[in-house]
Amino acid sequence: MANGVKKLSDRSPFESYMDILDGDTVSSPDFLREGPNPEIENKPIDASRYYDKDFFNKEVKYVWPKVWQWACREEDIPEVGDHHIFNNAGKSLIIVRTKENEVKALVNSCLHRGRQILADDGNLDEFRCPFHGLSWNFDGTFKDNPFGWDCPSWNGGAPNLPEAKVELWEGFVFVNMDQNAEPLATVLGPMSSHFQRYDLGNRYKAAHVQKKVKANWKLSSEAFMESHHVVGTHPQGLPMTADINSQYDVWNDYVGRQLSAHTVQSPHITDYVHTEQEIFNAFTGGDHDLEKNPELRVPEGVTARTFTAEMFRKNLSDETGYDYSHAGDAEMVDSLIYNVFPNYSIWAGMVFNTIYRFRPNGLDPNSSIMDIVLLKPVPKSGIRPKPAPIRHLDFDEPVTDAADILGAGLSLVFEQDMVNLPFVHDGLIASSTQKVEFSSYMEKRLLMHHIMLDRLIEEGESKEN
Ligand code: FES
Ligand SMILES: [Fe+2]
Repeated sequence: MANGVKKLSDRSPFESYMDILDGDTVSSPDFLREGPNPEIENKPIDASRYYDKDFFNKEVKYVWPKVWQWACREEDIPEVGDHHIFNNAGKSLIIVRTKENEVKALVNSCLHRGRQILADDGNLDEFRCPFHGLSWNFDGTFKDNPFGWDCPSWNGGAPNLPEAKVELWEGFVFVNMDQNAEPLATVLGPMSSHFQRYDLGNRYKAAHVQKKVKANWKLSSEAFMESHHVVGTHPQGLPMTADINSQYDVWNDYVGRQLSAHTVQSPHITDYVHTEQEIFNAFTGGDHDLEKNPELRVPEGVTARTFTAEMFRKNLSDETGYDYSHAGDAEMVDSLIYNVFPNYSIWAGMVFNTIYRFRPNGLDPNSSIMDIVLLKPVPKSGIRPKPAPIRHLDFDEPVTDAADILGAGLSLVFEQDMVNLPFVHDGLIASSTQKVEFSSYMEKRLLMHHIMLDRLIEEGESKEN
């Protein structure tokens, strides 16, 4: 596919993502074509937003308690009584399955003197505070107070545990501390219809890595909201990633999207045109021994994109028992990443259903935790594999240590991002301008991220005054 020059005022001058879709052998749904791209004033932002403790405290006070957050997958709590502890920004919730089709989020703080009631995931029929023994049933209703005779304001008992709002979507459990929060569907906007096709509820966690990073949570998050860092950070991806050609859409205040084609050479490579075989090899893990594996030879006259998409359809079909003949080439090979404010991303498509989540590391503005989850289809047989346990990686443990579950290529890509991030964080502290300049098109989603932070902080402060 030639990287023909096209003059567009606010896009890269190269072949657009839609041009690439137009050349596909099997078409993808129209919703992958260009979405909304509203005018947003591009003003530099203050670097201190990434390290200043006062700004961080405002996020803790006004942002996190107001937003829908992805807490866990339903498969993490499959049985009644199963619970998962979700911690973020100083808050702790017990996510518990109370009935077959009901999940609650109980505030994990004893109503007596505040001890966290539970520390670990598990299955219990009561939640008993280890400090003085107050207990609640697993649905949060009061059970027993061993010192009730001394608690006149509670009439000898205790209130039920306070709850956060819960909504379930495609196997994800979302929580919101704000009882007046707008429905999750309003936030997710077009995602509900776009993702129907990918049936994420019928997928299981095939890998889950949790990595600590010495960088503010927004830096970690924003490193995964654009694809044009491939040229600097992941140069090995250039032979098979149309990075600068990526499409960026802003669907609503919360949801943005980046669509990047793979199996297409980057326009950044100007001195060499890779063969279709070389592009295929780069995308599928290196040079193949074509004598031993003749099925990996890209036939004359066939593009790497058509060939890879067809091979992936067959492999996925063999693996799961489902038919993928209707799946577009883009849905088989591209990065179709939906970013949701404030801190998670869900990949659309049939193959690479990756999930990212970014949280502050405790109450530290200078470090964060990234979750990387790979979802795979539950086989047609209906036997749901158990969700993968979390592999914890500390600050100094490279993501490549998890190559056995993420794959060598993917774990290297993540590690390259992780190596970068502390230098971004420290570089911002060292900056003489103390400003961050976003690019206008490719980083519009990042700009929106900060507009939303400001909006929630202003709303919170104005209510107090
Ligand atoms: S703090 Fe929980 S019973 Fe006292
Ligand atoms: Fe990256």
